[in-house]
Amino acid sequence: MWLSGGRMASVGRQSFGSCFRVLGRRGCNTAAVMPEAAGFEGVSDRSDLQDFSVCSSDSFWAAVARQRLSWIRPFHTVQDCDLSQGRIRWFEGGKLNVSVNCLDRHVHTCPERVAVIWERDEPKSEVKLSYRQLLEMTCRLGNLLRRRGVKKGDCVTIYMPPCPLAVASMLACARIGAAHNVVFAGFSADALAERIRDAQSSTVITVNQGVRGGKVIELKKTVDAAIQSCPTVQQVFVAMRTENPVVMTAKDVAMEEEMAKEDTVCEPAGMDSEDTLFLLYTSGSTGKPKGLVHTQAGYLLYAALTHRYVFSYHDGDVFSCVADIGWITGHSYSVYGPLANGGTTVLFESTPIYPDPGRYWEMVQRLKINQFYGAPTAIRLLLKYGDKWVHKYDRSTLKTLGSVGEPINTEAWEWYHRVVGQGRCPVVDTWWQTETGGICIAPRPADPDAEIVPGMAMRPFFGIKPVLMDTEVYGSSFVTSNDTSGALCIAQPWPGMARTIHNDPQRFTETYCQPYPGYFFTGDGAYRSKEGYYQITGRLDDVINVSGHRIGTAEIEDVLNQCSAVAESAVIGFSHSIKGQGIYAFVVLKKSIDVQEADVTRQINDMASKKIAKYACPDYIQFAQRLPKTRSGKIMRRVLRKVVDSELEGLGDLSTLDDPEVVQEIIQGHHDLL
Ligand code: PRX
Repeated sequence: MWLSGGRMASVGRQSFGSCFRVLGRRGCNTAAVMPEAAGFEGVSDRSDLQDFSVCSSDSFWAAVARQRLSWIRPFHTVQDCDLSQGRIRWFEGGKLNVSVNCLDRHVHTCPERVAVIWERDEPKSEVKLSYRQLLEMTCRLGNLLRRRGVKKGDCVTIYMPPCPLAVASMLACARIGAAHNVVFAGFSADALAERIRDAQSSTVITVNQGVRGGKVIELKKTVDAAIQSCPTVQQVFVAMRTENPVVMTAKDVAMEEEMAKEDTVCEPAGMDSEDTLFLLYTSGSTGKPKGLVHTQAGYLLYAALTHRYVFSYHDGDVFSCVADIGWITGHSYSVYGPLANGGTTVLFESTPIYPDPGRYWEMVQRLKINQFYGAPTAIRLLLKYGDKWVHKYDRSTLKTLGSVGEPINTEAWEWYHRVVGQGRCPVVDTWWQTETGGICIAPRPADPDAEIVPGMAMRPFFGIKPVLMDTEVYGSSFVTSNDTSGALCIAQPWPGMARTIHNDPQRFTETYCQPYPGYFFTGDGAYRSKEGYYQITGRLDDVINVSGHRIGTAEIEDVLNQCSAVAESAVIGFSHSIKGQGIYAFVVLKKSIDVQEADVTRQINDMASKKIAKYACPDYIQFAQRLPKTRSGKIMRRVLRKVVDSELEGLGDLSTLDDPEVVQEIIQGHHDLL
């Protein structure tokens, strides 16, 4: 069983030649803004601090790293980075242990403080663990992993829903120097297997069954199916989330039983700053997910700092990030950021509408939550159920509301602000990515009374220097004017950024560093307003965002093309009122096979859930005789996008099409489908 802001900061100051000016103002309240900044000469307010963090980046990060983290051995070099080469190294020479930073140092000062509140799927059955209890759990598991042969440098795959044992598993890996690879527990056996194989894990940690929205999910069975094609896997640790027994094989280890035999003290491994902390797979524009590599010190520092300052987290607050731990949001803001800050973090196992659409706000009332961090897709869904589900509960503890993962439309933003936050809580629309490790653009930190514009991420975080590039010209220089759009790049490295792609460093350099040499290319487009505020306009590549889940259209096409009757396919995203984006698939059937379209639709949906996850199933499938292609055989996706968005006026230049008549067929087919 379970153990039970400021002014506009640097955004308006785009002059790259200028270095930080010592303003000659002293004795101000910088320490109140950020205690770590107390010693920075000439920094007298948030705006100065923002400038300092960018222009004197090494001094800024060195001071913050020394004060925020506990080191076994101090670092000798703040950074050794060259973005044009894809070389990113921070705090070299330093040694530390991430689990010690997240647990032991808080156990020394406040052992009984609540570290984790596990908001289980069953309402009103939360479980609280103190820092002392979480450390003990982590140590037992660390010892068990060591006893069963897991070594420094190995990579353990974790396939679990949000729960204390999942957090302890991540921290136990960190304790003994193993990397973890958390796979979202909604992924199918095939998707899990692909990630286990790429990470070459010999150990997998899972639960017998998951429970979500009142439904039981057979996670152990999924692992059993996955490891059939994973020769590296030697052992599977199985924790018991429900009381239902599962078939245990020779490879399986009864996790809690074995943990009970272990000591509650576990010697932490001394890790180099640049040793791998974890891999996290995410979608790119090809069919193959990328295992982004995050390392120890820089990642932890960035997660901790952004958690404290973007959300104005104060000691004693209860912080709730409702993302799954299988995504980067769960890593940085359910686990590492809050725990590094000695905070109390809520792990949410359920759904926004179970048992009813008041679930979030009933939880806020019961757990006295101070910061709530969620996804626009859930806000849009709840908005449709009406205000009464919110009004039913006391939300007076709330201080900050956060949004992440996709653009938040104005209607959803206003509702979140006015109804949920009673018009008194700042809403922080936070922009970032698996690649960035933590929040890069958000309305806060800024002076508490600084303006927040609905639906805009607005201001760069400390140490972040965003730039917009001309999308027409790869390799061009950045645009300096405001009221302009472009490809969003970050002009200098920061400690939280991913270091490489596991097994494919070249893909990392090609994707992020080469399009605009010397800059980190995010893959997103952005608009910079007259005032210098940033608004994310969406992906510039073939990645779409379905209910906040990032997925490459090529991944879905790969699956569709594996269906026996499908000759070829093209997948695009379209605007969806709840999901943000939906999936629209154009499918051409093989002429040689006689099939019913309804049967192919069923097969496609089965395949998409089996090979990826349920959210990868298309919302619409349009069967077509052929696809619009250029004379060189490339599918003209631009045309397909315009047809689906009903922008027939703007189809653009069709002269390169092999046969322009195909466009009329596509338009007609789209019309018939709707
Ligand atoms: O397109 C951007 C979108 O989500 C992408 C990153 O997805 P992922 O790596 O899964 O991480 C999601 C959680 C950080 C980005 O490239 N995105 C993220 N936040 C926002 C956003 N789009 C608009 N506004 C945001 N606040």
